[in-house]
Amino acid sequence: MDSVNGAGPDRGRSAGTGADPGTVSGTADWYRNFGLHEARGQSGCYEEWALAISQDPQLLALIDTLPYAKRQPNLVLAAARFLGAGNTPYAEFRRFLFSRWPQVRQVILTRSTQTNEPGRCAVFLPSLACIAAAEGKPLALLEVGASAGLVLFPDRYRYQYNGGPILAGPASAPDAPILPCAVTGPAPLPSELPTISWRAGIDLNPLDSTNDDDVAWLHALIWPEQEFRRQRLRAALEIAREDPPRLVAGDLNQRLAEVVAEAPAEAAVVVLHSAVLAYLAPPERRKFAQTVRELGVNWLSNEGAQVLPQPGDGTEGIDADHVRGRFVLRHNGRPVALTGPHGQSLDWL
Ligand SMILES: C[S@@+](CC[C@H](N)C(=O)[O-])C[C@H]1O[C@@H](n2cnc3c(N)ncnc32)[C@H](O)[C@@H]1O
Repeated sequence: MDSVNGAGPDRGRSAGTGADPGTVSGTADWYRNFGLHEARGQSGCYEEWALAISQDPQLLALIDTLPYAKRQPNLVLAAARFLGAGNTPYAEFRRFLFSRWPQVRQVILTRSTQTNEPGRCAVFLPSLACIAAAEGKPLALLEVGASAGLVLFPDRYRYQYNGGPILAGPASAPDAPILPCAVTGPAPLPSELPTISWRAGIDLNPLDSTNDDDVAWLHALIWPEQEFRRQRLRAALEIAREDPPRLVAGDLNQRLAEVVAEAPAEAAVVVLHSAVLAYLAPPERRKFAQTVRELGVNWLSNEGAQVLPQPGDGTEGIDADHVRGRFVLRHNGRPVALTGPHGQSLDWL
């Protein structure tokens, strides 16, 4: 899973903003919270491992030899699985980690949590369709923090809202993944998919859907029991391989304006992002928000509630328990929905 609020660089405690616990007990808390609040109900394996690590001083000491931002549970556990750790009881996982630590450490230091979840297109789609209808033009999509670019293909997937009929468009691949999404509230569910005439992404480290190591890393980032997400990833990677998106390497704040300028004039530009801004320090997030506004483009943000709060934006009125574990979808800065982190739900406000 990815950054929601304050619980790890990929699921919360931002590398740029979290206080460095600097102690074994801080890391223990991080793993305990991850096990109890992130993994529970999603992955029994990760719940067991994370809770056991939180009570394992020897392993915590090993993890604390890593730079702070690299101690995040999701990264450490994915690195071990990338190297072959199976869905095993903790004792076996622990032996694996100790015996392969130099290699695991190397993966942790060279990789980061770049989970790419095409399912998030299901929560972007209604807003994208509204923008296309309002502008009367095809869309030019620019995703910042695009990873391998799998969220850049909302026109190629198929959708099923509330178990209803399958929604597909002329560009949907016949065997495209079907993205299920449970909806509540007056969401403007579309009857057709918008036309995307141009797409591009920016990422600090774009992943390549044709590179075996990158693909293996994307698979390792999916939690052990989530086979349906692995299947979806495989199908989405096929789509990206057939029509590789333009992915620009660099920092989103540094590259945004120049890539927006590449978009064709006859299309409506939409800048979108999900599970990205938590990785930026607050001044960088504010700089990004200001730049998007100055560029005058359509802006869809799907991030944790605390990632882009603005006084009077309505999120302060949303009950904290209601938000917990979900992202806030904003259209031009205004909250419009709460969303499941993998696009599995859309609760229109
Ligand atoms: C958790 S992934 C999310 C990927 C994709 N948005 C999705 O929803 O599936 C976050 C991505 O943001 C990228 N990222 C983080 N900070 C960035 C920055 N300052 N500039 C550009 N990309 C960044 C990371 O490299 C990573 O690929």
